[in-house]
Amino acid sequence: MSGVKRNVLNVKQKLEILQKPDNGESASTDAEDVLNEGNTISHSASLQSVETLLDYMRQRGFDYDDITAVRKICVNIRQEMNEQQKQRRIKYFFKAVNVKRKIPSLMLNSMKMNKCCGKYAKGFNHLINRSNMSDSPVAIVTGGAQGIGAAICKELLKKGYRICVADIQESKAEEFAKEKQKTYGEENVIAVRCDVTKESDYAKLFEQTLKHFKRVDVLVNNAGILLEPDPRKTVEVNLVGPLFGCHAALKYMGKSNGGNGGVVINTASVAGVVPVPLIPAYAASKHGVVGLTRSFGLPYHYDKDGILFAALCPYYVDTDMMKSINKTLVPELDSSGRTDKMSVEYTAKGVLKLLEDKINGSTLLVVPDGYHYYQLDEKLKTLIPADDEL
Ligand SMILES: NC(=O)c1ccc[n+]([C@@H]2O[C@H](COP(=O)([O-])OP(=O)(O)OC[C@H]3O[C@@H](n4cnc5c(N)ncnc54)[C@H](O)[C@@H]3O)[C@@H](O)[C@H]2O)c1
Repeated sequence: MSGVKRNVLNVKQKLEILQKPDNGESASTDAEDVLNEGNTISHSASLQSVETLLDYMRQRGFDYDDITAVRKICVNIRQEMNEQQKQRRIKYFFKAVNVKRKIPSLMLNSMKMNKCCGKYAKGFNHLINRSNMSDSPVAIVTGGAQGIGAAICKELLKKGYRICVADIQESKAEEFAKEKQKTYGEENVIAVRCDVTKESDYAKLFEQTLKHFKRVDVLVNNAGILLEPDPRKTVEVNLVGPLFGCHAALKYMGKSNGGNGGVVINTASVAGVVPVPLIPAYAASKHGVVGLTRSFGLPYHYDKDGILFAALCPYYVDTDMMKSINKTLVPELDSSGRTDKMSVEYTAKGVLKLLEDKINGSTLLVVPDGYHYYQLDEKLKTLIPADDEL
């Protein structure tokens, strides 16, 4: 007979004795014995015993305080049982982590833990997220501190990328990176100050990222402004910035320079393929981004450097940029009442699509009814110079 079974029988016998006495004194003495034995027998057996005792006390009209004290003991035993159950599950989980060391089984365990252990499992998910990332690809996202850029960082982190958040707003980028480090680990998210209008900042950005992660696989040239009254600045940030970014990518990621190749995604806009009457400077800068993406996205560059180039062209997105334009810059473009604005998350998923589809030189329109590639007119394609004509 197993020890636990024997102990349960002992308690049952004790309870039978316990149920016989006529006075409170002997009941309480035997109850103490039962509780003391509760330390060595299974919790469920002792709980059953004490609950029987509680019933007995209620029937016999015991003092309210005594009943409350015994009820409290039931609660304590139950809590301890729950705690032990959790500990067993945690132990099981760690065993799985240490013994199997297989990602899919880790994920499975994490899902099981989520179901059964609530807050404990959260901690494990973070451990899993961190432990798997040491070899994962690295992406730099400019303008990553807020809006579409921050959403792109989040989507990439979810996909297992390690991230460098690059932004002219240094403290905001650091704050955002710190927040994400809580989930993905300090070593997997960094922030670097970068003004995209400065070529030297791009060099520092790549050098710091390479120093930390030892590789860069993706660059998202996303930083942008909508400042129609200042066309020079508009073009510098929106067009010259990504141009510097593409050159930096060729230098630091290009195979001809000892890199491993990769992907560059430039955030343009729907205004990069269609005219917009009230923001010609912005539209021109974004048309420029589409033009540079298509030019870098020709086989000439890919064959040399193994880098794919693609443009993301969102329609209206609900960000600070749209809010500021509503109030100050171009009141006629007020979009606050629009019902067709897209979320940053929906927009950022366009980047995942581009990374998955890997179509060099492509232009992806992100509009409320979906993601559509915008093709260059076939007749125009015949005008693209062949590599040997360059
Ligand atoms: N919001 C829209 O409706 C919309 C639509 C199409 C395209 N876009 C484009 O998406 C991109 C992101 O825009 P958003 O809506 O998230 O705007 P946003 O203003 O919320 O974010 C822009 C980010 O770029 C950073 N930035 C600005 N100038 C910079 C510089 N010189 N160097 C480095 N970082 C700089 C800002 O600090 C900010 O973090 C932009 O290129 C924008 O043109 C936006």
